[in-house]
Amino acid sequence: MQKFLTATALFAGSTLAANATTPSASGCVDSSAMTTCLNKAEADLTACIAAAGNDDLVIACGWQDDINKMLCYQGSCWNKAYSCEYQYLVSSYKIQRTVDEKIPFYPAPDKAPGGCSCNLGEVVTNATLSLAKVSNTCNQYTTSIGTNDLTTCQCCAWSAAVSAFYGICPDTSSAGLGLTNLSAQAAAYEGTIGSCSGLTSSNCLRYGIGSADNGKYLDPANLPAGGSQPLSTTSGPSSLTTPPAGATITWTALSQTFTVTAAAYNSADVSAGSTATSTGAGSSSGGGSGGSTVTTGTATVSAGAVVTGKTGTAAALQTSQAFWVMAMIALGVIYM
Ligand SMILES: *[C@@H]1O[C@H](CO)[C@@H](O)[C@H](O)[C@H]1NC(C)=O
Ligand SMILES: *[C@@H]1O[C@H](CO)[C@@H](O)[C@H](O)[C@H]1NC(C)=O
Ligand SMILES: *[C@@H]1O[C@H](CO)[C@@H](O)[C@H](O)[C@H]1NC(C)=O
Repeated sequence: MQKFLTATALFAGSTLAANATTPSASGCVDSSAMTTCLNKAEADLTACIAAAGNDDLVIACGWQDDINKMLCYQGSCWNKAYSCEYQYLVSSYKIQRTVDEKIPFYPAPDKAPGGCSCNLGEVVTNATLSLAKVSNTCNQYTTSIGTNDLTTCQCCAWSAAVSAFYGICPDTSSAGLGLTNLSAQAAAYEGTIGSCSGLTSSNCLRYGIGSADNGKYLDPANLPAGGSQPLSTTSGPSSLTTPPAGATITWTALSQTFTVTAAAYNSADVSAGSTATSTGAGSSSGGGSGGSTVTTGTATVSAGAVVTGKTGTAAALQTSQAFWVMAMIALGVIYM
């Protein structure tokens, strides 16, 4: 539970770099379809929350909203698949879910065309896997009486989680990304055991805990200042002019299967960039306050609703999505 809360908190309450992470239709291959799609997602979120009636459902509405916006990108804005906008959106979604779902274009490859100045997906993946070791890997040392293996291992795991951001995004300011929250929780853990004294490669690698910060294991209680740059989407060595995974993709999340057809490349829309209309839709954090987990894969629901996107719009069947949220609750798939 602690692991999950921490992971959820990674991006909680973010305010920094709203420009770089806020979903927008600007510069998309089909900017008008993207605008329509994002506006529809916002309207659907509002309707979903209005109909929700309890916190579990509100959280599920947020997840569905994240998915809806991902579909918008995949259909109408695939050229920004590696941008801070999309990568942040998926990161926010991923850290609230404890199931292993493969989301298209995530994490972005290194030096991706139109990529984000900080590879958020890599940070989240590494930090989440490191945090999982606090319990998964370290718990096996609970019976090793007479040594400090358990606490040393847990210190290493917390440290590796915190170090991921510093190592992968050394130039990026952590302000507003929720990292202070993760660090605060890591430091709080450290406080409960006194201090973390064994934060070295040789110690931590004994437990199979690597650090993404060039072998350094930062002390959560004494973190360095880190970088100062806000997140930004870079043009990269090139830009995407063909859909990175082909014209049609199929993927599965939240017990639904999506088929999305990529819109045709429209260079006018792409270069209109800065003047294109943005919806101003907030970067959804999904409303998750932590503490809830969802398990998918119940046989009766795993077939999912096939939501087939129309060309370039990834239009989804909203009634069926609201239905899915309800069905997941009804089947007890969502646990608090
Ligand atoms: C967003 O960009 C606009 C225009 O460049 C700028 O005026 C504004 O301060 C930025 N906002 C944030 C939160 O960075
Ligand atoms: C971390 O974030 C969560 C959710 O926003 C908040 O409830 C909690 O108080 C924060 N913890 C710390 C130590 O800042
Ligand atoms: C995090 O990244 C580092 C550096 O690549 C690696 O050694 C470590 O194993 C990763 N952590 C996890 C849990 O995958």
